[in-house]
Amino acid sequence: MAARVLLTGGTGYIGSHTYVALVEAGYHVVLLDDFSNSSPDVLNQLEIITGVPTRFHRADVSDANAIRPIFAAYDFDAVVHCAARKSVPQSLARPKMFFDANIASLLALMRVMAGHGVKTMVYSSSATVYGQPESLPIPEHAPLSYTSPYGLSKIMGEQFLNQQVRTSAGWVVGTLRYFNPAGAHPSALIGEAPVHDGGNLMPLIAKVARGVVPALDIYGHDYGTPDGTGIRDYVHVCDLAQGHVQSLDRLLRHRRSHTLNLGRGSGYSVLEVVKAYEAASGCRIPYRLLPRRPGDVAASFADPTMAARVIGFCATRDLHDMCRSSWAWETARQSDLQGALISPPYRPLGLIAAAPSVIVTPIARPS
Ligand SMILES: NC(=O)c1ccc[n+]([C@@H]2O[C@H](COP(=O)([O-])OP(=O)(O)OC[C@H]3O[C@@H](n4cnc5c(N)ncnc54)[C@H](O)[C@@H]3O)[C@@H](O)[C@H]2O)c1
Repeated sequence: MAARVLLTGGTGYIGSHTYVALVEAGYHVVLLDDFSNSSPDVLNQLEIITGVPTRFHRADVSDANAIRPIFAAYDFDAVVHCAARKSVPQSLARPKMFFDANIASLLALMRVMAGHGVKTMVYSSSATVYGQPESLPIPEHAPLSYTSPYGLSKIMGEQFLNQQVRTSAGWVVGTLRYFNPAGAHPSALIGEAPVHDGGNLMPLIAKVARGVVPALDIYGHDYGTPDGTGIRDYVHVCDLAQGHVQSLDRLLRHRRSHTLNLGRGSGYSVLEVVKAYEAASGCRIPYRLLPRRPGDVAASFADPTMAARVIGFCATRDLHDMCRSSWAWETARQSDLQGALISPPYRPLGLIAAAPSVIVTPIARPS
């Protein structure tokens, strides 16, 4: 029988793409989100893409009383935990709010999971746990450090989970350290659409391409990189989504935990991304070269060898795929926002429902 999975943060950027990959892999997935950084519209898009009615609950993961009835209603085999705050600038401005959001929610979730005998989790971590990397590419055994409360919250999350695996029989966790997710689903129906600006490069470039902001601010142009701008390991969000399926498959089959880098293993500079986006969009992207920002690193890219060996992860889509799909999503979204008719290039194979099938808002609490 197909495994049942709770996907937190399921209407967010990575969660929504992961949902599609999990459903396509045959998992029964229940979505949970509080819409603090996403829109309910995503649920309709997910039904169109997958042809499967969505099962969704609106709840804050840190509210154990709100999520307990969801665990009681379904017999989950595993949780994929993507829900978290991710904006580094916001974490610097309001660190306490960040710890409440990212740590309190993880602890509440673990408590409720334990209470219902659910002991399998795929956890969204981040390359930010490597802080200022000492050498490149970065292997999983590299020292951990942080340059923001966001980074610290991810390290702490990993440590709580490691502790749980060590001390509680039966627990297995797949910790996935994402490098820089970019791009969108080929349907152009879902993509990166944060309510709060997370500071990710591609949505910022897209804003310039659309003429919403006049120029891209590039922080640091005197790093020891070929063109002086920072280098990051951009990985297509659909490759990343597939990595979750591979991680979950492995956890459920082999009952052994893993901590893995999900990246391509090579990087692109900010200026290379700008050029690739210009080619994909046909738009000029003006930019301003500004001084470095404290905490930013010159270059960061993954050693993805272990992810390939342990779960068979291999990122196949390149920077051009990321830019093309991002631009397709941005233009489709714009026509949608302007009320124009969209004809997505992608057609669902199965059922198309006009609205998500189950929305419980919020789920009833036990008395
Ligand atoms: N996008 C990136 O660049 C990146 C890189 C590394 C790691 N990550 C991690 O991946 C995960 C997903 O990131 P994303 O890019 O999809 O972010 P996102 O903001 O698009 O998605 C997160 C979703 O979680 C929801 N959410 C947040 N707090 C919640 C709560 N307490 N209860 C219920 N729902 C809640 C938000 O509404 C949103 O839909 C996060 O844990 C993030 O830290 C992201």
